[in-house]
Amino acid sequence: MNILVVGSGGREHAICWKMKQSPQTSRLFCAPGNAGIDQLAELVPIKAHEIDSLVRFAKKEHIDLTVVGPEQSLALGIVDAFEKNGLAVFGPNKSAAQLESSKIFAKDFMRRHSIPTSRYQSFARSDEDSASQFIDSLPTPIVVKADGLAAGKGVIICTTKHEAMLALRTMIHDKAFGTAGERVVIEEFMHGEEASFFVITDGEQFAPLATAQDHKRILDGDKGKNTGGMGAYAPAPVVNKTVTDRVIKEIVIPTIRGMKSEGIPFVGCLYVGLMITADGPKVVEYNCRFGDPEAQVIIPLIDADLGQVLYSAATHNLNPASVRQHPALAVCIVMSSRGYPDEYEVGKKIFGLDKIVPEDGVVVFHSGTKREGDLILTAGGRVLGVTAIGYDHALEETIRSAYSAVEKITFDGAYFRGDIGKKALTIKT
Ligand code: GLY
Repeated sequence: MNILVVGSGGREHAICWKMKQSPQTSRLFCAPGNAGIDQLAELVPIKAHEIDSLVRFAKKEHIDLTVVGPEQSLALGIVDAFEKNGLAVFGPNKSAAQLESSKIFAKDFMRRHSIPTSRYQSFARSDEDSASQFIDSLPTPIVVKADGLAAGKGVIICTTKHEAMLALRTMIHDKAFGTAGERVVIEEFMHGEEASFFVITDGEQFAPLATAQDHKRILDGDKGKNTGGMGAYAPAPVVNKTVTDRVIKEIVIPTIRGMKSEGIPFVGCLYVGLMITADGPKVVEYNCRFGDPEAQVIIPLIDADLGQVLYSAATHNLNPASVRQHPALAVCIVMSSRGYPDEYEVGKKIFGLDKIVPEDGVVVFHSGTKREGDLILTAGGRVLGVTAIGYDHALEETIRSAYSAVEKITFDGAYFRGDIGKKALTIKT
């Protein structure tokens, strides 16, 4: 198969890394890619949102399968455009991608299909009075979410009702998140442990992948600002067998069936953000693609030909039994630029990548990098995802091996959290 991967981050690097291992992969392209992906795939200078150009490229190069990484492209309708041109593409179409691109769509969908989630209401600018009354009726903390896509930053957890009103006004009046915040969801905060549950689905059949836990905050101990994710590990021990069975029965099956029954079957990677509460698993949010950095830990654990699996899902012919998992674990530590998630500088030389050897069981997935001659430079907030895969060792050793690789890599302003994966060591299953 000729394969095109759309995107330029660590997630897309992990997808290309796995695709490259398959003898079925003929030519592998990535648009636009980064300095790590260019070791595996032919880079195509087309941005992920330039849909018409991507379609033209796929037709010209006889691409058999396109895999879309970023949610923005899915929300823009990349899948609709590829399908209209008879091209196989892995990901949901624009309507199905609303599970992620509209928090209101997702919450109303869950209500329609009795899928467990927190109590909520949605509001627009003209509803400030009723929003204020709803805030008054909720216990604190209160969650205020922008309806649209906001790069993981459109969620504000408010410890007081006053803060919740301020958050609401920042979104609907001050347009802190642009049009994404023109409508908002206000919801009850759920207490528990967060985890991510991934399934590949062809709209009807589905295959669960490893579960994972992301580390969203910038500082150790889950403090500080929200980021796109500072590290992840898989599997997440909090999602034990009992929880898995409940997630499949109470969330995954009703979601896939519900989307089909509404005439918008979801094809792609359904990423369910979960809260494991005292009452059982509940949905925090849906995402409509692989997570980043979760992809960097769940993809290495797939014991199957990823290209074949994603092609069969894209063509509505998924055989769930073919999607086996390695009995292994993985830990990814994100190295970011000084200042991230606020402003940061780019163009810093990265040293030490040559000291990481595959025999260490470590792969460095590039997130924001670019090549200039022989140099690799930083080119984003999140720069690298240093990933250790423990095929036959315990979590503690895998964490240690990821950190010892991180210590070998340097660039000016490099920052990483020191506690990735530590939480999993304390969770009782
Ligand atoms: N790591 C969170 C996300 O991919 O949305």
